[in-house]
Amino acid sequence: MGAMGMRSYRIIGGKRLQGNVHIHGAKNAVLPILAASVLGEECTIRNCPQLSDVAVSCRILEHLGIEVRQEGDCICTKSREGGHATIPCEWMHAMRSSILFLGGMLGRFGEATLCMPGGCSLGPRPIDLHLRMMEALGAAVHEEGDTLRCTAPHGLHGARLELPFPSVGATENALIAASAACGESILIGAAQEPEITDLIRFLNDCGAVIDPQPDGTILIEGRERLSGGEHTVIPDRIAAATYLCAAAVTGGEVTVFTDPHHLQAPLAALRRAGYFIHPEKDAITLMAPERAESFGMVTTLPYPGFPTDLQAVFMATACCTHGITTFSETIFESRYAHVAELCKMGADITVMGRTAVVAGVPQLYGADLRCTDLRGGAAVVLAALAAEGESTVTGIEHIERGYADFVPTLRRLGADITLLE
Ligand code: UD1
Repeated sequence: MGAMGMRSYRIIGGKRLQGNVHIHGAKNAVLPILAASVLGEECTIRNCPQLSDVAVSCRILEHLGIEVRQEGDCICTKSREGGHATIPCEWMHAMRSSILFLGGMLGRFGEATLCMPGGCSLGPRPIDLHLRMMEALGAAVHEEGDTLRCTAPHGLHGARLELPFPSVGATENALIAASAACGESILIGAAQEPEITDLIRFLNDCGAVIDPQPDGTILIEGRERLSGGEHTVIPDRIAAATYLCAAAVTGGEVTVFTDPHHLQAPLAALRRAGYFIHPEKDAITLMAPERAESFGMVTTLPYPGFPTDLQAVFMATACCTHGITTFSETIFESRYAHVAELCKMGADITVMGRTAVVAGVPQLYGADLRCTDLRGGAAVVLAALAAEGESTVTGIEHIERGYADFVPTLRRLGADITLLE
C-alpha cells in the first residue's frame, strides 16, 4: 500500500469467529485517570491499553511537567517542578478528551490555556458544561476564537455543582477540579458510567476524599495536592461488546473477560434477538443461534442505559438479523456516518433525524469501505467480517484510537483480516 495515510485492512468475510478475548483496559477510564494524575505526586496506573489517545495523553503530561515512565501496560507518573500551563493545539485537536486536563491544570497551576478540542465528529460537541463547572469552582473563563484561557489566581474553592445533563466529560472535569479545590463541593446530576466510578476510585486511591451518595449526588472534599497511589484500570466494556458482536455477526461463539455488570443493557438487547448469553463473575460468553431475530428498539441513553458508543456496532449486527431494528440516538446529534458505509455492502437502513430503521438482509457483500469515526469504524469492520467476499477498509487510524491489538485479536478468533501498510 505504501504511502502513509493509506494503511488499510483487507477482510475476507464469512469466517465464523470462535475463542476467548482478554479485554484491555478501558480507553474512557484511562484518559480521565491520566488527566487526574496531573494532581498527584506519584501515580502507578496498571492495565493501560496501548492506544494512540493514551500516547497523546502521556505527551501532554510531560508538557505539563509530569515525568512519565511506561513499562508494558503500566504507566508511572511523577510530578516535577515547573511545566507549562498550556496544551498545544496539535494535541487538543487529536482527541476531544484533552479537555479533561482542564480541571487538573487549574488545580496545579491556577491557570490553563488550551485550544478547543477535536475528536470524533459526531455533530456539535460543545464544552459549555465543562466551563460552567470550572466557573462555579471559582475560575474565570475567556474564550477568544480557537483559544480558551482559564484562570483561578486565588485557587479553586468548593461549590455546589449542578449538571443539567449527565455529561461524562463534564462530570470527570468537575470531580478532578473539585478534588483540588479548597473546601467541600457537592455535585448534582453527575454521570454514572463505570468509567466515572473508576476515576473516583483512582482519585480516592491518590488521597482525594470523594463520597458518592445513594441518591446519585457526589460529595467531594478538596485537597491542595494529592499524594498519589496505585490503581488498575477497569476492562473496556465497549471493546468487550464489540468482540461479542463480532461473534454474533459471524454466527460464532466468543468469551470475553470483562465485568458483565457494565454491559446490562447491551446484553439484554442481544438476548432479545435470541443470542445465547452466559455471564460469569468476570466473563461473558455469546453463542449465536441458528437464526437471530431483530433487537426491536434500541435507544441510546446515559448509563445504565444503552451506550451510544455501541450504537454503530449493534447496527452492523442488526443488519445480519431477521426483522426490523429501530435505533434512536439521544446522546449525539449526528452519529450515523457509518450508515452510508453499511449501505454500500447491501444493508437496508433508513435514517430520519435521530432515528435509524434497519431491516435485516439475508447477506451483506464485501466493498471498499471507510472508517468514519472510532465506533463507526468498528461497525464497518464487523459488517465486513460477516459479508460475502472481500472488503478493503481505510481510515483505520480511527480504530487505533480505541482498540488495542485489534487485528491480532480478530485473527486469533479466526477472522481473515490483514493489515496492509
Ligand atoms: C464520553 C466518551 C464517549 C461517549 C460519551 C457519551 C470519553 C473519553 N468519551 O464523551 O466515548 O460517546 O461520553 O457516553 O469518555 N455536551 C454539551 N456540553 C458539554 C458537554 C457535553 O452539550 O459541555 C453534550 C455533547 O455534545 C453530547 C452529550 O452532551 O451531545 C454527551 O456528551 P458527554 O457525555 O460529555 O460525552 P464526552 O465526555 O464527550
